[in-house]
Amino acid sequence: MVESKIIVALDRMAESDAFELAEKLKGEVWGFKANDLLDKMGPRECIYALRKYGKVMADPKLYDIPNTMKNRIEVYFGGVEEKGKITIEEMYQADIVTVMACVGIDALIGVAETKSGFKVPTDIAVVTVLTSFDEEECNINLGGPVKAKVLQYARNTVLAGCDAIVCSAQELLFLKEHPELDGLIRITPGIRPKGTSADDQKRIDTPGGAVKNGADLLVIGRAITENDDPLAAVYGINANINSIDM
Ligand code: C5P
Repeated sequence: MVESKIIVALDRMAESDAFELAEKLKGEVWGFKANDLLDKMGPRECIYALRKYGKVMADPKLYDIPNTMKNRIEVYFGGVEEKGKITIEEMYQADIVTVMACVGIDALIGVAETKSGFKVPTDIAVVTVLTSFDEEECNINLGGPVKAKVLQYARNTVLAGCDAIVCSAQELLFLKEHPELDGLIRITPGIRPKGTSADDQKRIDTPGGAVKNGADLLVIGRAITENDDPLAAVYGINANINSIDM
């Protein structure tokens, strides 16, 4: 098993295709991210099934009032599930669950309190500014420049007691200037190996660039899932990361 920082986003895949790919990449990546697969299969069943192949990032990007956020975290991503006398809750819990930063600090505090009651640890990752936003879209939709909003949301993440932020690799150096954020896990989507299409992503970086600037984990979807040889794509990305001078 290699130490990899790659989380493969299993977006828009039939269940059978997703698990076939996961079997192929097992041991070569950190794990797998489920978004629409959570809805298709149900969160618990999806997480349980993906555990066989690596760690699991559940990406429902929860956005709701504080009480409903707490309910969803508790009901779908925590709690105790018993079969006979064997408690198997860890099999049903994701390693990481995502919530939207723009729910505000009260909802984030509620989520952090709820997950602190879980017997098995789950990290809450707070999605700051979507990597598909450029400056203009961030201003229009979130009311400020990218860096200011990412900083505000990252500070809220720390204050609330959540564990990780999701941001683009382009903000990582700036975030390093803020020691109050040092304990946060940094997860970066918008990763594009050299020569691949940006698609709908606006704030992108290469795998090596993201890790050099401080990314702990990289969410990568299409560059792997749409490659004719996904395993070769993973080898290439891991090699790109391992080649950087830190
Ligand atoms: O295919 P691609 O590598 O662009 O996929 C990126 C994945 O990361 C998608 O599943 C998307 O939902 C997710 N994501 C993102 N930007 C964020 C948070 C999550 O692209 N800020």
